[in-house]
Amino acid sequence: MLKPEIEDGQVSLADPAFRADVLNGLNARPRAIPARWFYDRRGSELFEAITDLPEYYPTRTEIALLGDACPDLAVRVEPGRAVIEFGSGSSTKTPRLLNCIEPAAYVPIDISGDFLRASAAELGKGFPDLPIHPVEANFMHPVPLPAAVADLPKLGFFPGSTIGNMTPFAATDLLRAMRTSLGEGALLLIGIDRVKAPDVLVPAYDDAAGVTAAFNLNLLERINRELGGTILLDAFRHKAVWNDAASRIEMHLEAVRDVRFTVDGRPFAITAGESIHTENSHKYGERGTRVLLRSGGWTPIAEWNDPKGWFALILAEARPAETAP
Ligand code: AVI
Repeated sequence: MLKPEIEDGQVSLADPAFRADVLNGLNARPRAIPARWFYDRRGSELFEAITDLPEYYPTRTEIALLGDACPDLAVRVEPGRAVIEFGSGSSTKTPRLLNCIEPAAYVPIDISGDFLRASAAELGKGFPDLPIHPVEANFMHPVPLPAAVADLPKLGFFPGSTIGNMTPFAATDLLRAMRTSLGEGALLLIGIDRVKAPDVLVPAYDDAAGVTAAFNLNLLERINRELGGTILLDAFRHKAVWNDAASRIEMHLEAVRDVRFTVDGRPFAITAGESIHTENSHKYGERGTRVLLRSGGWTPIAEWNDPKGWFALILAEARPAETAP
């Protein structure tokens, strides 16, 4: 249940989990706030804008790969599967998949109920004969699926390389949770961003137009708005760095001068050069991708890559556990 807050005459809704993550994250060393809090209305709009940026290659590359994979998917995914999309959001890539195969049902899963129902209704207009069963849930844990799809074979869909925003440890847990949700024999179509040169990766997360910077800084605006924060936005700058050892792009908000502020009435002091870590975006090599999937209980059976090898679309199967020799 959200608690209405009144700050300077403005009413906002303070999510207790947001408050806890921000206060704990600002007190932690290194300071870090989970990336999931980027996505308020403004953050979601900014993310949509990021996907159109010339530097941000993943979205357009994955969309092209879905087109390339389509004839092959039509053969590999037999008609009659229920398509289960994890973190469906605005479901923009979904029609491209649904048009390739002959699905029996579509189950979008998302934590944001209003958004989920609106996108499901929108998608339904293009697929009037397809039963759609939206499920409001946190897909990081096994999700009970609607009874209507219980007896159908399943195809999980997890595009966008969202798996990269988790540590490999959490990504493995998620893949296992998906396997539990979908059951043995299920298929999973997943998008994974590849390791590539930092001079391609860093601009993708620090674009010339400053959209990603605005996306990152919007987190501070959200803290000010929803948690009564007094953070001066010009005291922080967006920073994107390639962490080679961890194979990931990291986004930070770095203090450009010593700064003091309060959040929910609690005081914080951050010195110049210190940063708040706001996102990881892990990139995987060819073998690393396959090991990750296998660790999560999924055997890769087909793979589509763009000519530059920047992004991969992988079809994997939940096979019975292998017997060790
Ligand atoms: C949602 N996710 C896959 C994006 C990514 O590329 O890691 C989020 C993002 N952050 C900055 N730009 C895009």
